[in-house]
Amino acid sequence: MNEKDFPCLNDELVYLDSACMSFRPQRVIEKVQDYYTDYSGCSGRSGHSISRRAEQELENARAKIASFIGASKSELMFTSGTTEAINTVAQGLDFERVFLTEKEHNSNRAVWQELGVETVNMADLDLEFLEKTLGEKDLVSVLHVSNLDGEILDVETLCKISREKQAYTLIDAAQSISHGPFSVREIDADFVAFSGHKMLGPTGTGGLYVAERVQEELEPLKYGGGAVIDSSLSTNSREDFPHGFEPGLKNIAGFTGLGAAVDYLESIGMRKVLEHEEELTVHLVSELESMNVKIFNKGPGIVSVVPESMSSNEAAEIMDLKGIKVRSGQHCVHPWFKNKDFDSTLRVSLHLYNSKRDVEAFLKVMRSISAL
Ligand SMILES: Cc1ncc(COP(=O)(O)O)c(C=O)c1O
Repeated sequence: MNEKDFPCLNDELVYLDSACMSFRPQRVIEKVQDYYTDYSGCSGRSGHSISRRAEQELENARAKIASFIGASKSELMFTSGTTEAINTVAQGLDFERVFLTEKEHNSNRAVWQELGVETVNMADLDLEFLEKTLGEKDLVSVLHVSNLDGEILDVETLCKISREKQAYTLIDAAQSISHGPFSVREIDADFVAFSGHKMLGPTGTGGLYVAERVQEELEPLKYGGGAVIDSSLSTNSREDFPHGFEPGLKNIAGFTGLGAAVDYLESIGMRKVLEHEEELTVHLVSELESMNVKIFNKGPGIVSVVPESMSSNEAAEIMDLKGIKVRSGQHCVHPWFKNKDFDSTLRVSLHLYNSKRDVEAFLKVMRSISAL
């Protein structure tokens, strides 16, 4: 689907690592370039027309990205990615306990450990257990879609239960937001974190949705210029969310590029993106089933494979030599591997630009590896 829009793609390359990093369409690259060539000013500071244009473009991008996830502009802050978004929540509010699943990304584990917050680890999202155990001031912080096997968690029911118990919810949407229809209103979480570079946007971009009802409770991760209304030698007053949470000069080129990525995704249609990835995944998994490999797949777009004949790392190296880019390792989900008889997987992850040709190229090499 639409490979020609992506300058990084070519006939010799089979790119199957979009869970790590997506490629960008030409229009995103051009939007980034527009900032540096046409209006490269300081947004929100100087009063001249270049600076005003930069501010306008940045706020247009915020409105577009917010609308893409069903939020309003005043509920979305810019971050450098999912990690910074999760850190903002972790360091901005006191939680009694944090409930995690075994498949959380290190970005949703290390920060809680480092801060010394009590964590409750569930093997999987256990709604019955949560209903019995959750209390006021607890947080359930879980992924929407697993970066290991594409599993989709029932975050809508989770958020409903948590609200009834007056507990908070943080959804890591890094792997879901650009792979199908997504609405913060339907999920009804307190916080949603996501990364721009996984949704066809520039590196160093992302966002944190904060529901209006909890904005007052959250403290910023950083303080400084641009977020301040007034200051004296001893105090300062701060802007409300989101501007009060975004001190320092913003990544204007990056976020306007992310706005263009959202335009692009919307021009394709998120249902179509989902159907496309579903179709490719069904084909991929059904072919893998006849091979000598372990398969981990619970949803569209992401399939982990463990070959019997060699390590995943060796298999990834062979793939690389043949022009097929897949990732091997533990995918920042180390705890999941602790009780397994293998220490890494080879992960295929798709995006809208992948085609059946890409899947066939991977399967061809996988067949020869599994026959060894
Ligand atoms: C599920 C999940 N959460 C969090 C992250 C971290 O995202 P970022 O590196 O953009 O902060 C990733 C990145 O791979 C991820 O897959």
